[in-house]
Amino acid sequence: MSEAAHIPVLLAEVLDAAQPGPGRLVVDATFGAGGYSRAFLERGARVIAFDRDPSAAGFAEPLKADFGERFALVLRRFSELEAGLAATGAGAPDAIVFDLGVSSMQLDEAERGFSFMRDGPLDMRMGAEGPTAADLVNTAEPEELADIFWTYGEERASRRIAAVLVRRRAERPFARTADLADTVEAALGGRRGAPTHPATRVFQALRIAVNDELREIEVGLAAAEHLLPEGGRLVVVAFHSLEDRIVKAFLTERAGRTPQTSRHLPPRTEAARPSFALLARGAVAPGAAELAANPRARSAKLRAAVRTDAPPWRTAA
Ligand SMILES: C[S@@+](CC[C@H](N)C(=O)[O-])C[C@H]1O[C@@H](n2cnc3c(N)ncnc32)[C@H](O)[C@@H]1O
Repeated sequence: MSEAAHIPVLLAEVLDAAQPGPGRLVVDATFGAGGYSRAFLERGARVIAFDRDPSAAGFAEPLKADFGERFALVLRRFSELEAGLAATGAGAPDAIVFDLGVSSMQLDEAERGFSFMRDGPLDMRMGAEGPTAADLVNTAEPEELADIFWTYGEERASRRIAAVLVRRRAERPFARTADLADTVEAALGGRRGAPTHPATRVFQALRIAVNDELREIEVGLAAAEHLLPEGGRLVVVAFHSLEDRIVKAFLTERAGRTPQTSRHLPPRTEAARPSFALLARGAVAPGAAELAANPRARSAKLRAAVRTDAPPWRTAA
């Protein structure tokens, strides 16, 4: 694992938006290698971090040694933020920060099976439980596979790829990432000079499906709305358009920026008063200096908002 793999993305902007400091409690919903958590702790805040990946525990040890009781790691999904935080006995957080997606450690480690660049078992689970990507590829109905590639990978050849995989798995099930990447590449007729590997979209789609990532974001954001008191800060860094679309829709709606469906309708009711005020109008992207130092930051987008005194909105069941 290289040093470069640990560079936290948009750190200065995250600190600016979350405002960690003495006497403040920050929830780091996606601990990873602990880059954000360390920066919050160094500024004097208390930090409760979450990660669904048990291997994140290794990165928590140095923080416990350096900051003692000011830091704790909870190995749970952030969709369980409310129960997880309640179990720690901590009070209301002053800020909740999400840095979505997989970590560079997870991507770089062949054994985790996220990468078409490094051969490994076809796993892709961030946590330790549930079906793997191999289970999905080897057992899902062709229509379900095509839907996954289309919805989570925006892959236009979704049906063709699904048909090829289903035919191939009948002879020999998929077990390795390189085998899947090669089969997808062949199904698409080779590289044809494309700047990215032809299997990029299929790998992204499988990863999102295996980890139920988009639902996690929806539930996690709603949990943050419930947990933050007035003045509390929500900060979210997203890495691809599917993630950012959900964050943008949530914040735009909660900030009352969605136009009323009809001007003949009665004005907004108490329950629909804006629960967040946006900190910046659009998304904040990395500056030129950060991009030069860390090319992996190129698609990162930060959105942040401050909780108002309005009650949380009801969410669709
Ligand atoms: C991009 S990394 C975070 C990097 C971190 N900000 C740092 O500075 O080191 C994302 C982390 O979030 C975790 N994660 C992703 N989805 C999660 C979820 N639904 N619940 C909890 N952790 C999640 C991943 O396991 C990964 O470790």
